[in-house]
Amino acid sequence: MGILKDKYGRIHNYLRVSLTDMCNLNCSYCNPEGADFKHTPKFELLTYEETQRLISIFVRDLNFNKIRLTGGEPLVRKNIETFFTSLNLIKKEYPFKLGITTNGLLLKNKIDILKENGIDYLNISLDTLNKEQFRKITGSDSLSSVLEAIDCAVNKGFKSVKINTVVMKNLNTNEIPDFLRYVEKYGINIRFIEYMPFSGNGWNKDYFISMKEIINIVKSYADITPISNNEASVAKDYIVKGSNVKVSFISSISDDFCSDCNRLRITSDGHLKLCLFSNLSDEINLKKYVRDSGFSDSDIAEIIRSSLLEKKLKHPEIDELLKANKNNMFRIGG
Ligand code: 5AD
Repeated sequence: MGILKDKYGRIHNYLRVSLTDMCNLNCSYCNPEGADFKHTPKFELLTYEETQRLISIFVRDLNFNKIRLTGGEPLVRKNIETFFTSLNLIKKEYPFKLGITTNGLLLKNKIDILKENGIDYLNISLDTLNKEQFRKITGSDSLSSVLEAIDCAVNKGFKSVKINTVVMKNLNTNEIPDFLRYVEKYGINIRFIEYMPFSGNGWNKDYFISMKEIINIVKSYADITPISNNEASVAKDYIVKGSNVKVSFISSISDDFCSDCNRLRITSDGHLKLCLFSNLSDEINLKKYVRDSGFSDSDIAEIIRSSLLEKKLKHPEIDELLKANKNNMFRIGG
């Protein structure tokens, strides 16, 4: 059926799949304040079979070549091993790059199962190296489990291990030099991410620090030079002279990368999102078709193809986002 293009000519070949909206951390920048949010009831979650079917449609019928599993925290989902095994069978038939984004808490125990099933690209979220600060940001005392998991992942020799760090002014900017030392020790890539606003996630300008400012801080500790990205990447990559460690910056807010967007997302309740920042009301309910035996795989592929034509050229500017964005990161997984 061939490649998937939007009306601006952007080829879409990268799918991010949220497996659950549950998480074993409670990060301030991700979970909404207050208790007025509800997690998806089980019958509304896509089953593993339904998720596999959608992934097959993307990789077989729509030429997608990259899948990333997200959450919530994907590793909290029950019997995830069975899902990984079946996904690996699809991957053997229709090869694609497979990665996961995790907070690392349960990673050490699952690391072999990831490795065995071709989940080669690990992104691990880590916003502080300080125990107290970790408790403040995540509500949990488990920093050491995350650090152990990273150590373990590096030693297992995955194709890629990256650290995702959301930078928040007055919260963790002072740790930038510690992070640089930490990733240099392992020779792994760190990606400093601008703090993005989502419904009720406490975003405000006092915490926001732009990529430019973050780069300046990094430059005061390390001699970094930009390198070109070889594929549609959201990160701007730099190399630390001498160590060759990659330090990257993700500037969703101050300098968006919409013009290169190649991504689609599926929420754990089976909705297609055309943009990370799109409103709930703009999501396409794919689950409805997946659960209706009247729709074949190629019908669903066609629905995805025509839905993509609605994709906008850019996400709204920050002021608009703050007003309009009625969505939660824990449903989308970045
Ligand atoms: N702003 C920026 N990054 C965020 N993430 C989660 N919420 C936010 C936010 N509000 C990051 C997580 C994870 C990745 C999927 O997205 O830290 O690493």
